[in-house]
Amino acid sequence: QAVNGATLPLAGKKALVTAGPTQEPLDPVRYISNHSSGKMGIAIADALAAAGADVTLVLGPTGLSAANPAVKTIRVVTAEEMFNGSEVHFAQSEVIVMAAAVADYRPKHVADIKMKKGEGDALTLELEKTKDILRTLGATRTDKQVLVGFSLETNNEKEYALKKLREKHLDLVVMNSLNDKGAGFNHDTNKVTLFNKNGDARELPLKSKLEVAQDIVNSIVEMLPANGA
Ligand code: CTP
Ligand code: CA
Repeated sequence: QAVNGATLPLAGKKALVTAGPTQEPLDPVRYISNHSSGKMGIAIADALAAAGADVTLVLGPTGLSAANPAVKTIRVVTAEEMFNGSEVHFAQSEVIVMAAAVADYRPKHVADIKMKKGEGDALTLELEKTKDILRTLGATRTDKQVLVGFSLETNNEKEYALKKLREKHLDLVVMNSLNDKGAGFNHDTNKVTLFNKNGDARELPLKSKLEVAQDIVNSIVEMLPANGA
């Protein structure tokens, strides 16, 4: 593929992106979830496709879609479905960006009929951990792959982001700070800091999620091992 005679930087590369929230059912009408819109991850999927990659997007429940029709979208609901959808594409992908806000816990028991209000004033739910998709699949990564994760924090952001970078075997962690105005859930803009494997920080100014996605894709292109290497 060529644009104006120049080869696209990710032509011939497969990419896997996770985005959006997950929903963990309690009963047929209720679930546990979070405020993720999927905007940032979808923007990354579109930017990777524009750079020539063959992109699979594993997308949690959101009304939004990738703009580029070449992005192959697998829609999922739960963390377990997102794990399964990601696992089948992980090994064959050279570029992996896990931007989804995956639920860390899910109800241990899912009622098959609607739960009724009881007589008491309180209800205690028992939750169990979901599988950490990035941690589990990241443990199988090779040095031919570029692996990018996100870190959304409200406090001790840098310390937690660097911990995720290390423990999840990432090449790059995108740190989101919920404290910033104009950043985070459902905004069209975002304020992030990128940390590479050496822990070097690149703090980006507040800009549109499309521009942030382009910066992340540019970093990925720089980190990709040279062809045949
Ligand atoms: N992630 C994942 N699967 C999970 C949880 C997280 O793939 N079950 C990925 C996210 O997509 C993100 C990264 O791991 O790229 C970090 O997610 P985050 O929620 O910030 O961190 P956790 O490791 O879940 O830790 P905590 O929520 O306690 O900060
Ligand atoms: Ca989490």
